[in-house]
Amino acid sequence: MSSEHVLTCVAWPYANGPRHIGHVAGFGVPSDVFARYQRMAGKQVLMVSGTDEHGTPIQVQADKEGVTPRELADRNSLVIAKDLQQLGLSYDLFTRTTTKNHYATTQAIFLQLLKNGYVFPQTQLGAISPSTGRTLPDRYIEGTCPICSYPAARGDQCDNCGNQLDPVDLIDPVSRINGETPVFVETEHYFLDLPAFAEVLATWLRKQDHWRPNVQKFSLNLLDDLKPRAITRDLEWGVPVPLDGWSDRPDKKIYVWFDAVIGYLSASIEWAKRTGDPDAWRPFWNDPETRAYYFMGKDNIVFHSEIWPAMLMGYSGIGAKGGEPGLFGELNRPYEVVSSEFLTMEGRKFSSSRNVVIYVGDMLSRYDADALRYYLAVAGPENQDTDFTWSEFVRRNNDELVAGWGNLVNRTVSMTAKNVGAIPAPGALTDADQALLAQSKAAFATVGDLLARSRQKAAIGEAMNVVAAANKYLSDMAPWQLAKTDTARMESVLHVALQVVSDAKTLLTPFLPTSSSKVHALLGGEGTWAPMPELVEVDEETAVGSPSYSVLTGDYTTAVARWESTPLPVGTPVGAPTPIFTKLDPKVVDEELARLAGE
Ligand code: MF3
Ligand code: ZN
Repeated sequence: MSSEHVLTCVAWPYANGPRHIGHVAGFGVPSDVFARYQRMAGKQVLMVSGTDEHGTPIQVQADKEGVTPRELADRNSLVIAKDLQQLGLSYDLFTRTTTKNHYATTQAIFLQLLKNGYVFPQTQLGAISPSTGRTLPDRYIEGTCPICSYPAARGDQCDNCGNQLDPVDLIDPVSRINGETPVFVETEHYFLDLPAFAEVLATWLRKQDHWRPNVQKFSLNLLDDLKPRAITRDLEWGVPVPLDGWSDRPDKKIYVWFDAVIGYLSASIEWAKRTGDPDAWRPFWNDPETRAYYFMGKDNIVFHSEIWPAMLMGYSGIGAKGGEPGLFGELNRPYEVVSSEFLTMEGRKFSSSRNVVIYVGDMLSRYDADALRYYLAVAGPENQDTDFTWSEFVRRNNDELVAGWGNLVNRTVSMTAKNVGAIPAPGALTDADQALLAQSKAAFATVGDLLARSRQKAAIGEAMNVVAAANKYLSDMAPWQLAKTDTARMESVLHVALQVVSDAKTLLTPFLPTSSSKVHALLGGEGTWAPMPELVEVDEETAVGSPSYSVLTGDYTTAVARWESTPLPVGTPVGAPTPIFTKLDPKVVDEELARLAGE
């Protein structure tokens, strides 16, 4: 059976600008819901990520802004960390890829892959911009896909058929930066020998029947066309290649995707160092019983289901060339690759340049984190592309959060405060009382099972069914009338309703940690219910010379929340409630649409 440890790996957002809600819909909220649930269920969770700071996305944006890549990364890493903190994402460590530790870890993996024979040098044709003489990065070249004839394929990947591409294979390639036709010149690079993993990858992928079927099928399809893949680039900004004649070359660096996926391991190692037990990462990576879950948007699948597993196997000496594990030991592959589909914005693709966007920071300056988390959980792109609309955001907030869940809490607690002042003792329970209590108790197994399998939409649906059943129960029982005719029965009804409110707030905690903590306090609960991440400045130099940097971290072991129905202690004082959610004026929709239109 599975172990006590659960590794939660969250895709690393690029530090080329602030992140929008489409990004956090894909990797952010789902991973936090999962990690919070697992901790409540008693697992030891390690949740890691950070900002992805190398490569062409950063270089190109820095050029545009007239700053160095490092300045750009320093600025955006902090902005992104603050946004994720405000959203309440409970990272054990959210760090950066420009740390000394990350550079060392990346280079160690590279060298072991080289030693085991899975990495080799080779000359290839690289694209150069004729007007600037600089290397033209793969993804900034566009042309027709040689496989499916899609006319807007990128040099690295075709978004239409999903195949990995090489810029030289594109038909009629042009630069996306200035439209000119690139020239191709010979250049030496290191390659990851993906064909050497064809068999081990196929055997492994075929066993992953617990993955979402489209992810497994997509990954198996990739095996039909395995080619060695360049893992270095002609670029100034990146992790140096740790070899004589290469390490101090200003124009050759490790490819950003090669270093980014290693971030999961390096961040785990950094986290362990920070806890004071430098080996604390090992049970999460070396114990074969430990499950590692990876959360991302669908454009990241190939890197997590093919390339990263190949790197992990090669490092561990598994593959056609054999070999030995390096000092990190034999490393676990992903147990599950949880990918979500895309979110669109009012019917269009998110686009910062065309202002079809709402940044996380802007959203959270105007609305509660739980309102956004709720929307993304019930209406996010878990299984198919979905559209964010302001009218739906306001409707869900007002009808479901405020009028459904908030109102249940509010009327139950205020009736109790007014008529009893404490959690009342129940009398004899009727069938209706018992049925409701049984439904909310049973939801722990149902919702928990759905959460363990990352079926979060169904999970929150089941939790909200408990809320709806409790609202109906209150309407049927009308305790406000019993207050005048039969106070003993009223107390029983309030006891049952309060118990179900308590259960529902537990069931909703992974999704709505802030409001659930408030409900915990309203019911007289003590201690920290759902701990929040903290932003901490660490006094260490980065590999690129920043004197210190900020990380997100937190102590989540202090939480009193457990994934179970906890009987409310009779007699605990209950005071008048304050609202837990904010009702939105429908005018918000027009205001936001006007903002989007740039008015
Ligand atoms: N920065 C990438 C993106 O935003 C994701 C990197 S995930 C990692 O698409 F695995 F490489 F870390
Ligand atoms: Zn294609």
